[in-house]
Amino acid sequence: MMPRLTLRGVGVVRALGIGVLSVVATVALAGCGDDGGGSEVTLSAAGKRGQAVAEANGCVSCHTIDGARSMGPTWQGLAGSKVQLEGGYTVVADDAYLTRAIRDPRVQVRAGFENLMPVAYGKLTDAEVADLVAYINDLAGN
Ligand code: HEC
Repeated sequence: MMPRLTLRGVGVVRALGIGVLSVVATVALAGCGDDGGGSEVTLSAAGKRGQAVAEANGCVSCHTIDGARSMGPTWQGLAGSKVQLEGGYTVVADDAYLTRAIRDPRVQVRAGFENLMPVAYGKLTDAEVADLVAYINDLAGN
């Protein structure tokens, strides 16, 4: 009985693994819009690293780069724009704001959005956060 259960378990894990892999492959392919179609954003070297960090950390499941609203605000045109925060404040989304929004997302919350951003991103290195900020700046043409 035990061996059979174990084998079945392996089968399930394998099936799940393949499922995840094919999802990742699909997303990777979809992201490869070099030959036009999508937005024409030129990424800096730091921006490219930031894009990879965003993909590796699941940021893209809540933030779009095409202006569409998702769980979180879009990153298109965000950097340098004026954003409204809970409590009626308006701030400019400069590098310091973006860094804080990633490191400590509970401190300043965008008006009209749930406070859902995971706090676990405090563990990102300074270099990773800087690359993410560079990426978000690239997406605003800064
Ligand atoms: C579970 C969904 C979720 C994930 C994953 C997520 N965020 Fe967010 N994020 C949000 C939400 C919701 C907000 C708006 C509320 C707030 O300001 O905290 C937000 C706000 C932000 C803001 C401020 C945006 C603004 O318009 O002021 C930045 C920058 C940001 N996130 C970056 C990131 C980065 C970088 C990652 C990955 C390392 C990430 N987010 C992952 C949900 C998410």
